[in-house]
Amino acid sequence: MSSERSVSAPSHELSSETVWHVQMPQIRFGRDASEELAYQLRDLGVDGDAHGLVVTDETLADIGHVDRVVNHLSDAEYTVDVYDESEREPSIAAVEECLSFVRDEKGEDGYDFYVGLGGGSCMDTAKVTRAVIANGGGPLDYIAEPTGEGKSLDESGPPLVLLPTTAGTGAEISPVAILSVEEKRIKEGISSNHVRADAAVLDPTFTTTLPPDLTAKTAMDALGHAIEGYTTHEYDSLLRPTDPADRPVYAGRTPLTEMFSEKAIDLLSNNVRTAVHNGDDLEARSNMLQGALFGAIAGLTAGASLCHAMAYPVGNRYHTFHGETIAALTPASTLDYNAGSDPERFTSLARRFGVDTTGMSTNEAADALKGEYIRLQRDLNVLPSGLTELAGITEDDVDWLAKQTVDTQTRLLRCNPRPVTEEDVRRIFVDALYNWEPDVV
Ligand SMILES: [Fe+2]
Repeated sequence: MSSERSVSAPSHELSSETVWHVQMPQIRFGRDASEELAYQLRDLGVDGDAHGLVVTDETLADIGHVDRVVNHLSDAEYTVDVYDESEREPSIAAVEECLSFVRDEKGEDGYDFYVGLGGGSCMDTAKVTRAVIANGGGPLDYIAEPTGEGKSLDESGPPLVLLPTTAGTGAEISPVAILSVEEKRIKEGISSNHVRADAAVLDPTFTTTLPPDLTAKTAMDALGHAIEGYTTHEYDSLLRPTDPADRPVYAGRTPLTEMFSEKAIDLLSNNVRTAVHNGDDLEARSNMLQGALFGAIAGLTAGASLCHAMAYPVGNRYHTFHGETIAALTPASTLDYNAGSDPERFTSLARRFGVDTTGMSTNEAADALKGEYIRLQRDLNVLPSGLTELAGITEDDVDWLAKQTVDTQTRLLRCNPRPVTEEDVRRIFVDALYNWEPDVV
């Protein structure tokens, strides 16, 4: 029966990997790090008379962040054009518009360098644009079959530097760009080391303008990466590939990702309340940006899992913010369903969230962790009580959502530490309708 089919890694693959690997862009972090962007470009071999493109959006242009970057690059003798029409959760069509802009201005060869400035959507638009210009064709050529042509990217193209203005997505270091395919109401990732930026410049002074609701939503995405990275399967539970090139991008948790997960959870859970309620607090903003970076290094190397897999169909159908969707789904998926995969690990996670687990059984510790996570969400005051408040989702919708999750998110479900069937996913969606009783107005 198809609803009972397990979509996690089959048991015959559960042996023998002995090697882990990490690949990162250069990383420059700290207050006013953006003043070193031109130095970073020179370090990547970009000459002084080069012509580059800043890919961003109108909001960041309106609040002056774009001028700040462009003026800095102009002072360093670079010529810079700006494309400020990136859209939230970019569609194929939106990226094609950016590609047309590049080809109209600079022909098939494109620019000498690219800078992505903004949240995950701006950075993903910049990542795909640079890669497609370098390899030719359009974005669909590089999206997996059957949606796209499934061609592989052979070139990275000229240098790409990313400057995040939110503390959340991890797009500045990840090898993945997420695009929505509107006619199919699905999201697809282009996943390749050729999509990854050459450098990330993280400057917390760019994040203080982020309003409380977006600060909270992006923070919950970052926390999701850290927690999912901490609780996914270990790298050596997979089969070692005969060709190292076949090692998956999401390869399981390692001693390195473990360190970054733990530090990320500390930084994010201890600073998110201040960053949301007092956005000008630069120390809290800096800790959040660092926490999001560490969460991405952990989660986007080890692998996001069930919660992220379930979030994509919700985002496609209801156009919800990714981080807000992660917030609504985490208690039922990662913290409840997955807790059975490794009770000791979830007890450690509970302690990291500040729960005194003395005298508790592992089940009680997992319950307390879920309660603490929900308390954190409620303290932020801007997050929905569950999927129903998020997007009006009811029990009538969960069959479709569960089927979409199982049919389209194999890449993420393979990373889940506990096998999961379509019926399991359906029940988790039902649990996530309400994480707490919403306030009646
Ligand atoms: Fe995410």
